[in-house]
Amino acid sequence: MEKRKIILDCDPGVDDALALAYAAACPDAFELLAVTTVGGNQTIEKVTRNALDLVEFYGLEVPVVKGMAGAIVREPLYAPETHGESGLGSCVLPTASHSVEEENAVLYMHKLLMGLPEGEKITLIPTGPLTNIAMLLKLFPEVKEKIREILFMGGAACGGNVTPCAEFNIYVDPEAAKIVFHAGIPLVMCGLDATLKCCLTRSQVLKMCQSGNKVAKACGDMVGFYLENTANKYRGVASIHDVVPLMYLIHPEIFTPKRMILDVDCSEGVSRGTTICDFRWWKHEEEEMTALVLMDADSSKFQEYLITALYELGETLKGGE
Ligand code: RIB
Ligand code: CA
Repeated sequence: MEKRKIILDCDPGVDDALALAYAAACPDAFELLAVTTVGGNQTIEKVTRNALDLVEFYGLEVPVVKGMAGAIVREPLYAPETHGESGLGSCVLPTASHSVEEENAVLYMHKLLMGLPEGEKITLIPTGPLTNIAMLLKLFPEVKEKIREILFMGGAACGGNVTPCAEFNIYVDPEAAKIVFHAGIPLVMCGLDATLKCCLTRSQVLKMCQSGNKVAKACGDMVGFYLENTANKYRGVASIHDVVPLMYLIHPEIFTPKRMILDVDCSEGVSRGTTICDFRWWKHEEEEMTALVLMDADSSKFQEYLITALYELGETLKGGE
């Protein structure tokens, strides 16, 4: 398998925390160069605290870099009702001994990308609002040649969660999404069409909470909050949205991609943050259609690969104790 250089730009956040665990569990697939944070599920201070604690808990030796506190134009918007006051539900992790990098994430990513050897490229994996990525592209357009593709969790070809037609990450900062979508960089949109099928069931979460595996238990505790304190409790499953971009890189066969041209509604009102997928191949040149959207996912395969990875990471860390 090809090992990809990646940056995870996130707002941990329960499902961001499991995405980080999945990246840590798959060192043959990912060379994680940095974890950058953005305000979203919780404030920038809380998500950065969480990222530091998660990186150390998962045994990663990776810089954590604080990014933008809120959207480029809009008022900040957080999701404590979904991710809890801390951002990690009811899970309390040991406080990391490492501290955050001095530099802002946007400047840090610019230096990291421009410092890559000639011909090397990075895959960006944003799992929060696209504010950091948009600022990077606007301030330093020269980085585009250093970005292989952007696989982001956000949007939907049909539907929404924070409103009937908008997904949270895009809704929080639609202007940032517009900048990213029109940058001419290959995109894979891991939106709700697929991520709502990428869930853990109540019984799987309960088993994780009761396990002696430290990673499985911590993730079970985080997802347990998410499962019991949001509308997920009526569904009986919790969608682990942010794992999807990473899993797509390792197991593309369990997803159904469709080619399209992507845009976003930056108006105010009921359609704010709606992602628009233009599938009309007969109206566009092939080279214009630089985006893919994942339209479906195999739920049971997702569960198998994620749960296996979490337990394996826990076993690996136990071996290092
Ligand atoms: O809509 C789901 C997305 O919003 C996930 O990335 C979740 O962590 C929140 O950021
Ligand atoms: Ca997220």
